[in-house]
Amino acid sequence: MPKATIRDVDLADKRCFCRVDYNVPMKGTEITDDTRIKASLPTIKYLMDQGAKIVLATHLGRPKGKVVDSLRLDPVALRLSQLLDAEVRKLDDCIGDEVEQAVTGMKPGELVLLENVRFHLEEEKNHREFARKLASLGDIFVNDAFGTAHRAHASTAGVAEFIPGYAGFLMEKEINALGTLLLSPGRPFVAVIGGAKVSDKLGVLESLLDRVDSLIIGGGMANTFLLAQGHNMGKSLVEPDKVDAALRIMEKATDSGKKLLLPCDLVVAHAPEPGVPVKVVEPDGVPGDMMALDIGPETRKVFAEELAQARAVFWNGPMGVFEVEPFRGGTLEIAASIAHVDGFTVVGGGDSLAAVEMSGYAGEISHLSTGGGASLEFVEGKRLPGIECLVDRA
Ligand code: 3PG
Repeated sequence: MPKATIRDVDLADKRCFCRVDYNVPMKGTEITDDTRIKASLPTIKYLMDQGAKIVLATHLGRPKGKVVDSLRLDPVALRLSQLLDAEVRKLDDCIGDEVEQAVTGMKPGELVLLENVRFHLEEEKNHREFARKLASLGDIFVNDAFGTAHRAHASTAGVAEFIPGYAGFLMEKEINALGTLLLSPGRPFVAVIGGAKVSDKLGVLESLLDRVDSLIIGGGMANTFLLAQGHNMGKSLVEPDKVDAALRIMEKATDSGKKLLLPCDLVVAHAPEPGVPVKVVEPDGVPGDMMALDIGPETRKVFAEELAQARAVFWNGPMGVFEVEPFRGGTLEIAASIAHVDGFTVVGGGDSLAAVEMSGYAGEISHLSTGGGASLEFVEGKRLPGIECLVDRA
């Protein structure tokens, strides 16, 4: 059922409790990538133009219910006010008397940013009373936090029990783009899944096999599949306790007639460090004292050929340790191959987005998702609590 958006409601003079996902990468107090803040601007500007009073809420990091000074939102408020060219008042908490007073005094078109909602343990526990207090700051709930929509937390879903929830423009855009892949992807539909660990994405790999025509597995997680095939992976990152799961996934692919592509050569070195000598080997030739850190040239060619046939692609997770120069070639070539696909392409997840930016091909991708875990769960076909809780469009 499609969800109602902020276009479907009269916003004039309304207090909007607006959940955004400003979980941005930080180095000290410096925001190293403000993509998520920029992505929320169309919604915020629209709410301002419509004369709403905007109460913004987000988490940053995982403070686990404690006040962590380095995870305060002051740098985020500053960046937002620069981008909006408007005052953004950052409050010292997200609930309590001071917050209530500040919100009561707001005029139409004004906005405040609440302090990190995860400074309260009740946020992640989706505590009902905490959700009620947050909801009391708004007449309506606007959810624009697609990146956190897979979390059933107080500020992402719990508040909708008390005030009606509407999708913001970013949420709407993400649902539409990812919905295309979920409901009517072009064929062949190829998923490229990488990243360090199989354990992080085990469920995703299994469910994706039901949806895609080909599943390309690269990055650290491919090592466990190669181990399961009987290769000695030297010092590579492997998860021996996931070998059975890897075998099951490979069996499922064979039984269902889906292609599952693994690396056929690897870039190996003694350590994931700049300037170290590297070698290209086949999976059965990984030296005992070396580790796989990128996909090799032959693998890149095979993966590129598969992607050249694709009419829909979903990519999440790098093909190697792309942050370190000698190991970024595989990830960058995959980015280029996806950019050249004649079809609908989606890239999600912080690392993959950073790699696409680095490759210079960001403009060639149909949709760059602000969600990592959220985009994976969406494409898997899971229902996301932050979307489910919103009002259905009549
Ligand atoms: C993300 O960065 O994927 C979202 O903000 C969710 O963060 P979390 O994984 O800490 O819940």
